[in-house]
Amino acid sequence: MTNSVAIVTGASSGIGEATAIRLAQDFSAVVIAARGGENLKRVAEEIRAAGAEALPLELDLAEAAAADTAVNETLKTFGQIDALLNIAGAVPGIDLFQLSDQQWNTALELKFHGARRLTLRAWDALKASKGAVVFTSGTGAEQPNAATAAIGTINAAIEALAKAFSERGLKDGVQVNSVSPGPVMTIRRQGLIEKAAAANGISVDAAKAKFLEQAGIARFGEAEEIAELLAFVVSPKARWLTGTILRMDGGEIKTV
Ligand SMILES: NC(=O)c1ccc[n+]([C@@H]2O[C@H](COP(=O)([O-])OP(=O)(O)OC[C@H]3O[C@@H](n4cnc5c(N)ncnc54)[C@H](OP(=O)(O)O)[C@@H]3O)[C@@H](O)[C@H]2O)c1
Repeated sequence: MTNSVAIVTGASSGIGEATAIRLAQDFSAVVIAARGGENLKRVAEEIRAAGAEALPLELDLAEAAAADTAVNETLKTFGQIDALLNIAGAVPGIDLFQLSDQQWNTALELKFHGARRLTLRAWDALKASKGAVVFTSGTGAEQPNAATAAIGTINAAIEALAKAFSERGLKDGVQVNSVSPGPVMTIRRQGLIEKAAAANGISVDAAKAKFLEQAGIARFGEAEEIAELLAFVVSPKARWLTGTILRMDGGEIKTV
């Protein structure tokens, strides 16, 4: 695509990093946002090596002002926004009965309100470009459990939020979907597995094997696999795809 601009949040690692690098094949510029400046610089170099322009923005997206900064800097530099991929998230895997109000609020502030605010701020530009938005939920939305209650709950809220935006998008010409990954082996997933290993007094390898068996899947997903799906969702080929939830989970969800 020529002269097209994508914003990817959470692009300093994991699914966001893989997606930002993948989108360099399809977009002429990729704006990448997260807190980790050094990692963003590294990802920016990879985007440039793949042939697109890169604009790294070191931002804490849990802060309300970050959405304005991200949109203003993008428009100042490139003049348009064609795709917004809300991927940043750091919801803790803590038991429902241990999770404090502050932990709920911190998790919501980034993953839910951060994505909501950025989408609102970018909306006029997306309307002008007839652009696309993707929210990242997760299969916990479909099978919430007590041990990681905030993950499932917030992902379900994200899917509802995406659906609400998609309805307004019908009128405004903006395509909005959510993508729901199953267990993908990233730093985040590694941390959750290490925590489970410590809690159960087993090795990390044993905890991985146990997790796969309990989830009923053959292997963990790769960040690059989710990136391919996200790249399709914001591509011209997927223009009629809107208001839906696309799950890529290696067969984890057993129900129809
Ligand atoms: N991995 C999985 O199995 C899985 C499954 C389902 C859904 N998901 C979802 O997919 C998304 C990405 O997950 P991942 O596994 O790739 O995680 P990850 O490797 O930990 O990446 C999380 C990203 O979010 C950014 N981030 C965290 N706090 C931030 C803040 N306050 N402001 C701006 N950016 C912030 C991180 O960058 P900095 O730390 O540099 O700020 C990082 O780039 C998350 O929304 C997660 O819930 C993951």
